[in-house]
Order: sequence, then structure tokens, then C-alpha cells
Amino acid sequence: MKIGIYGGTFNPPHLGHLAAARAAAAALELDQLIFVPAGTPPHKTMPAGSPTQAQRLEMSSILADQMLRPELTQVWEEELRRPGKSYTADTLRQAAERWPGAQLWLLMGTDMFLTLQDWHEPETVLSLAGVCAFGRTHEDIQRQFAAQREALRRDFGANIVTISIPNLVEVSSTQLRALLGQGGGREYLPEAVYGYILREKLYGTHADLSRLTIEDLRCVSYSMVKAKRLAHIKGTEEEAVRLALRWGADPEELRRAAILHDCTKYLTRQEHLDICDRYGIVLDDMERGAEKLLHAKSGAALARYVFGQSETVFRAILYHTTGRGNMTLPEKLLYLADYMEPTRDFPEVGQLRRLAYEDLDRAVLMGAELSIREMMERNRVVHPNTVEAEQTLRKGLGL
Ligand SMILES: [Fe+2]
Ligand SMILES: [Fe+2]
Repeated sequence: MKIGIYGGTFNPPHLGHLAAARAAAAALELDQLIFVPAGTPPHKTMPAGSPTQAQRLEMSSILADQMLRPELTQVWEEELRRPGKSYTADTLRQAAERWPGAQLWLLMGTDMFLTLQDWHEPETVLSLAGVCAFGRTHEDIQRQFAAQREALRRDFGANIVTISIPNLVEVSSTQLRALLGQGGGREYLPEAVYGYILREKLYGTHADLSRLTIEDLRCVSYSMVKAKRLAHIKGTEEEAVRLALRWGADPEELRRAAILHDCTKYLTRQEHLDICDRYGIVLDDMERGAEKLLHAKSGAALARYVFGQSETVFRAILYHTTGRGNMTLPEKLLYLADYMEPTRDFPEVGQLRRLAYEDLDRAVLMGAELSIREMMERNRVVHPNTVEAEQTLRKGLGL
């Protein structure tokens, strides 16, 4: 088994780290890629707005998740747990113990590679792991790395692989932190990491969460969910706007509702209940017992009370899973967009998509009927709101 160990302060983790991780995983054909956020010496005073270790761990997890390869990536807390200064030699000793027999590869950028001989116990480092160093271009690597590669091979018997990453982001963490404090830096970060920074007000960012721009709202929403859900959220936004334009609703309101509609999807049951309790969302017994229903309620609450969205957005999110009797236009549109956005795939989706642009109420009715059928097939109780949606739509259509 080949394991890549990618250490760093990840303060914050950025697109350069992501590009390097992807390139190294492919070049070395890694079976595992392990991000190792470095510990910080306890006596070191950190500037205001610096993330805590827990926050750096969270950002590293978000970055790892962006690889969309959950079987490949993990974040290892070893250096955060270990007291004192983080030495790579110690980390590799721990790694060799934890994954016996694995072939270890240490991933690093140019600066680290060029100073490797000055690290603590370089002989241990280079005997326990191969080195994968990345530079920007092949020429850079030849010019900058050749002498060092030879020296490390000669002095330590090092096993070295160099890879070039053409789109390697040219920003240091120090520069990036400064940019963030001045309201910039977003282009160097995965959207979800940037959203986390905004939510936690790190590095001197001071976004008012109730008045975010559309771009920032997306980042914040994406930071709350797993990366694999992003295609669905983006698809829902696209579809909701298209439907709003077709049926004469406010496209920007639908856009915001779609961006936020699943933002609490990955919270625990208790977290949903706490949010609903805090914002006075009344839940019935059925909702209390089902995460699938709860995320609509807690998501609506955050949209309204944390992200400052309108009552219309609130209600569209509140009913996006079940529908309800006498739905308003925006409620119908989000319900449908969620159901049939471009990444959805089920036998009737083509028919539903056609209907959604031809006969709105028939499309919503079809959605409700499909949901009811699915629940019955799974022997689940259908939420009364869905039954009411079906009944009022039928009645309205004279069926
Ligand atoms: Fe949902
Ligand atoms: Fe959804």
C-alpha cells in the first residue's frame, strides 16, 4: 500500500494544496493520501483572528473532502495531539507503526524540499519515507531541484520523485492571510474553505452573514455540506432560476433559496432540533423523528435568521421536501427544481422536466405522487403535507 503524507500548517489550506494533492495522488498512484495539520508550539502567540487547532483541522477536512475521493483521503490529527514542536521524523515513526508495511511518501513544496537536510533527523525522515516534491514547471524542477536531489541521494540514500504542477497556485499562506484581512484572497481558496473562513470570521474577515453577496452565500452554504452534494445544490440553483424565469417568479429569490436549501443536510438530529428550538420552528412528531424532514426546517431557520433571507425564501426551503397544501409559486418552483435538477436521474425525470415547463401544477402533482408512491413502497408513513399538496393540486386541476 502506498500512502502519501501531506503535512503543513494549512493556515489556511488553499487551491495550491489541492492541486498538489491531486497531482501527487495521480503521479504516485497513492492508495491513501493523509493530510497532517501541524501542531503549533503552545507558547507561540498567534495574531488575532488566527484559527484554533480545531478550526485548522476542520478546514483541512473540508479541503480533503474537495478531492471527492473519500476512499483515498483522510485527515490525521497526530501532530495536533502530540505536545511540543511537530517533527516530521516523529510523525513518520508514528505512521510506520500505524500502517505497518506501507510504503510512505512525504509530499512537499519547493521550499521544504530545498531545506530538507536542515530538518530535525533528516536521516530518519528519508529512511522512513520517499519524497515527492512539486514545482511549477518541468524547467523549474530541473533547474532548482537537480543539485538537491543528487545531494539527498548521495548523503541519505533518499528516494525522490519530482512532479510539476502547471496550475500550482503562486501564493504563500502569509500573503493569503494578509489578503483575506483586506477582503481579498477568495480566488486562491476552494469555495467551501472560503465559506468556512467567513462563517468563523477568521483572518480578519468580518462578513455580515445576514447580508452576503450571492458569491459569498454560495461559499458559506458549500462550507456546510459534503463536496459530493455540491453538484446537486448547483443544479438546483440553475433549475430554480430557469423555472422562475419561465413562470414569472423573482429569479434572485429562487436562487438564494436554492443555494441554501440543503445547507443543514449533514447536521445531526440533535443539531437540527437545537436550531428549530432556538428559532421557534414548531415540529410535529414525524418531523422530529426524520432527518430528511428536519433539514428543511433547520435550513429554513438558518436562511431566515442567520443569513437574513426573506419570508419567501424561508417558506420555499421550509416546504421543499414535503410540499404542502396550497403551495405558493416560489414553493412550487423550489420543490420542483430540487426534484428534477440536471443531476437527478430516475425513470420519470424526463417527463417531469417537460411538464415543469409546460404545466406547473401538473408537474408539482407528479412530484407529490412520485413521493407518495416511493414512501408507500418503502413502507413509510407519508407526511400529511405531501398528502395535502397532492389533494389541493388535484382539486385545483379538476381531477
Ligand atoms: Fe433537501
Ligand atoms: Fe436538495
